[in-house]
Amino acid sequence: MKRFIVCFAVMFFLCIQTNLFPQDFVNALVIHADKGQDTISRHIYSHFSEHLGHCIYEGLWVGEKSDIPNIRGIRKDVTTALKEMGIPSLRWPGGCFADEYHWKNGIGPKETRPAMINSNWGAVTEDNSFGTHEFLDLCEQIKCEPIITGNLGSGSVEEMSQWVEYINSDNISPITDLRKKNRREKAWHVKFWGLGNESWGCGGNMNPDYYFNLANRYSTFCRDYGDNKLFRIASGASDVNFDWTETFMRMWAAKPEGTRNNVNGLSLHYYTVCHDWNQKGSATKFDKSEMALTLYKTLQMDDFINKHSAIMDKYDPQKKVALIVDEWGDWFDVEPGTNPGFLFQQNTLRDALVAGINLNIFNNHCDRVKMANIAQLANVLQSVILTRGKDLVLTPTYYIFKMYKAHQDALMLPYELSCADLKYDTLTMKALSVSASKDKSGKIHISLVNLDIEKKQVVECRMTGKIPVSVKGEIVTSKEMNAYNDFGKSPLIKAEKFEGAKLNNGKLNIEMPPLSVVVLEVD
Ligand code: AHR
Repeated sequence: MKRFIVCFAVMFFLCIQTNLFPQDFVNALVIHADKGQDTISRHIYSHFSEHLGHCIYEGLWVGEKSDIPNIRGIRKDVTTALKEMGIPSLRWPGGCFADEYHWKNGIGPKETRPAMINSNWGAVTEDNSFGTHEFLDLCEQIKCEPIITGNLGSGSVEEMSQWVEYINSDNISPITDLRKKNRREKAWHVKFWGLGNESWGCGGNMNPDYYFNLANRYSTFCRDYGDNKLFRIASGASDVNFDWTETFMRMWAAKPEGTRNNVNGLSLHYYTVCHDWNQKGSATKFDKSEMALTLYKTLQMDDFINKHSAIMDKYDPQKKVALIVDEWGDWFDVEPGTNPGFLFQQNTLRDALVAGINLNIFNNHCDRVKMANIAQLANVLQSVILTRGKDLVLTPTYYIFKMYKAHQDALMLPYELSCADLKYDTLTMKALSVSASKDKSGKIHISLVNLDIEKKQVVECRMTGKIPVSVKGEIVTSKEMNAYNDFGKSPLIKAEKFEGAKLNNGKLNIEMPPLSVVVLEVD
């Protein structure tokens, strides 16, 4: 008996070593190509630019006199990259900065614009050389829709009301005359309008009921001009602040139908930090357990959206108010040697996975989530672009947005996934994150993230209502999880052709390397 047990143990060990037992758990994915109902708003792929560190100044704006190639002061390399990536809309001027910003200081001849202290971000002097005209010029250059967050924290109702009039009215008035004097004849017709930012914190430390009343008051005086109907976004909760959403939506539901249109969206902010706010961790120097923790915490976005949406469903079952995730992304320690108030961080493969997971979550919640803005566009937090002088780096996150572009305005497809569990220390999570959509031409796009740090994941994908005849794809991955794209070096991480998807009797067999993001196009 003893000899038999020893023999069996040796054989078992040999089998494992020589791969005689099939080692790969096959994840089963069924995509319902015939059951889509909701469209993935392209605004889920939006970005955020704040007067913070080198996001605006140096990142986007270098001024007309700069020897960095520019059009009316806006960097040409940046606008080219953003157009290729696909940027549907851009939020500005903050963030916390928005509730201290006085728009009239940012118009007219530059030499007469008053300066201010940017007290939220490094207490640097803001010279207001980038203002309304420059921002809207940027949006026109990159062909994206502007999202302007008005100052509800320290600005007056009159000030916000006049800003909307200045931007959107084609009537004759002292305010529109001022715009014309500043060399803009026609109104811009901006649609997305924010009513303050983080009003529970940097935007004024308010209670939700006080904010609700104030937001309605400001909103009333932000007029619709001509055919342009404003889409008004109220300042919402941060991660687990369910009480804010509850109070706001209860008060919204109690209002007479005719005044409910004062609010079309309620925001949610959630940032992924590695450990906690006191220990955010390095953006580039992290180990496997920090990688796992970051991915685990990113997946919590799904939980937060589920819970905030459930509250909204209770008061607004017809989904008249959208959930707008207008700040999200990784927030790590600043790069050593940089200004702590400028929030400059590098961007690795880990950020690429965080972007892929979040975008899948938003796609899957597109019935309620109508917009999301990653923080921030350039040189701040999880950026798609980093700049240093004339140099520009496209980060791993940039390539995720570019690959996922296919989902913009496509029909979200429901799916079922039977998926391996991953266990890291005390954490358990699913190995895969998935979303799928059908575009107007009938092509199906499937985006998959393999969260497994060690192993490849094999997926067998079946579709209902569609027999796939061709498949191609792109992948972002690296053997080094800490790899990043650096100035003056060719990029270590970018989108590459994916060879791991094969058609097999009407099914797709997909083999994804560890820590990878794949987007497939299936015809
Ligand atoms: O994105 C950086 C800051 O994070 C924003 O200004 C603020 O809204 C949030 O707390």
